[in-house]
Amino acid sequence: MPVRLRPVTEADLPHLTGSDTPYEDFGPRNPRTAPYDPSLTADLGGLAVVEGEDVVGSLSWVQLRWGPNEASRSPMIGIWLAASARGRGIGTEAQRQLADLFFLHTTVNRVEAHTDRENLAEQRSLEKAGFRQEGVARGAQWREGAHHDLYVYSVLREEWASGR
Ligand SMILES: CC(C)(COP(=O)(O)OP(=O)(O)OC[C@H]1O[C@@H](n2cnc3c(N)ncnc32)[C@H](O)[C@@H]1OP(=O)(O)O)[C@@H](O)C(=O)NCCC(=O)NCCS
Repeated sequence: MPVRLRPVTEADLPHLTGSDTPYEDFGPRNPRTAPYDPSLTADLGGLAVVEGEDVVGSLSWVQLRWGPNEASRSPMIGIWLAASARGRGIGTEAQRQLADLFFLHTTVNRVEAHTDRENLAEQRSLEKAGFRQEGVARGAQWREGAHHDLYVYSVLREEWASGR
């Protein structure tokens, strides 16, 4: 089934439950009651991942700032897929498509993703989508009663362009 990204609608929200893996267990949180902002320049944005006609997950991003100017912003992306959609290449395809959108429609030089040292599926998925592991953010994320190391991944515009 073809995979595509589109803005999240209110009808999608009941399908975007999240928080069903240890990597997203941040304690009780309010369910999402409004769609993400689909604008690629939004400080906090997101899109739905659709397989055929079914919404199977979401991608979101926050803008990191490596300097005070616009040219030093880079989106850091995150993804969640429903359990039934995992392990079939959808995460790879969706993250590749989101990187394409950022490089085609904004001037960012770098798209980032962070994932737990133990999240092998996401590490592999990012690598297949063209991201490179560039280091470890040590003890960065508090979850399940402990701080966890995160691998930092990125794809640069020139790498994306040469891979097309
Ligand atoms: C992580 C996630 C986005 C990956 O998407 P996906 O569609 O399941 O992944 P893909 O099928 O595109 O690729 C997964 C790759 O990891 C590999 N993989 C999966 N589990 C693995 C494991 N335990 N050890 C090693 N490799 C593993 C698969 O074999 C595949 O690689 P291959 O194609 O070379 O065989 C998805 O599984 C998910 O939403 N998980 C729950 C939420 C989550 O962890 N989000 C990321 C938080 S940072």
